[in-house]
Amino acid sequence: MDYTEFERLKKEIVPYIEDHLKPSRLEHTMNVVKVAREMAERFGEDAYKAEIAALLHDMAKYEKRPGVNMDFAHSKIGAEMSREIFGIEDEDILNAIAYHTTGRAGMSKLEKIVFLADAIEPGRNYPRVDEIREAAETDLDRACILSLERTIEHVRDEKGWYLHPDSLKAKQYLEENNLMESKELAELIAKTLDDKKGIDVALIDIAERSSFADYFVLVSAGNERHAQALRDSIEDVLEPMGIFPKNVEGKNKPTWILMDYRDVIVNIMTQDAREKYSLEKIWGDCEITLCN
Ligand SMILES: [Fe+2]
Ligand SMILES: [Fe+2]
Repeated sequence: MDYTEFERLKKEIVPYIEDHLKPSRLEHTMNVVKVAREMAERFGEDAYKAEIAALLHDMAKYEKRPGVNMDFAHSKIGAEMSREIFGIEDEDILNAIAYHTTGRAGMSKLEKIVFLADAIEPGRNYPRVDEIREAAETDLDRACILSLERTIEHVRDEKGWYLHPDSLKAKQYLEENNLMESKELAELIAKTLDDKKGIDVALIDIAERSSFADYFVLVSAGNERHAQALRDSIEDVLEPMGIFPKNVEGKNKPTWILMDYRDVIVNIMTQDAREKYSLEKIWGDCEITLCN
């Protein structure tokens, strides 16, 4: 989202929520905005989108709809109203609003940020909130798991209320994706590449030297088609396990395909590119394991 669009939306949204929210809810919303913006900056998400989603997340809280409990429905209805009143079409923003109370399986980064900002803004005070705040400094998934755990304890076990199945599914999904340690994942990827005749498969342990990942997996491909095939082989193995890359670069010109699995970054390179960029030299003081 560009700055002009952001400013335009903000000018429309702020007076609306000032009109429609109780003072305490407005204060909460502004806290969520601040935390969501900080988290977006920390985790490389669009801070304007985070701010807009946060401004809108509770907009429907005091709507009156016959037979509808707004405590449960304000998230979904808020997303609908955001589209209708402010013309928000960005699906990621709409989903962040729609799932901010329950979470869901396969949440995007923006969804996680709004979900967590709502749960940990400075006005929140409940058991284990500090633990969730601390996790949210470094690890969105772990913070979401802790927050969902807390919700489940509170709603189902303490209050005896109905627990939305999306919350259980969200937690399950995150746990399955988090289950594998980065070392295991790197080794599984290396083995997959070796099986597919990847050339000079190497594992570089960059955890000590890098803040963005724990391992690099390097492999050379005989040609661009082989590079594509190596990439496909990794996806074929990981997708059924519910592990998806955060980002894949070089899909169109596969002299260097970079697959970002968060803690593990896979670099599939043609032999020329591998020589040219010589990542092994750049990361030369890290432990490098050759796998074939
Ligand atoms: Fe809410
Ligand atoms: Fe909220």
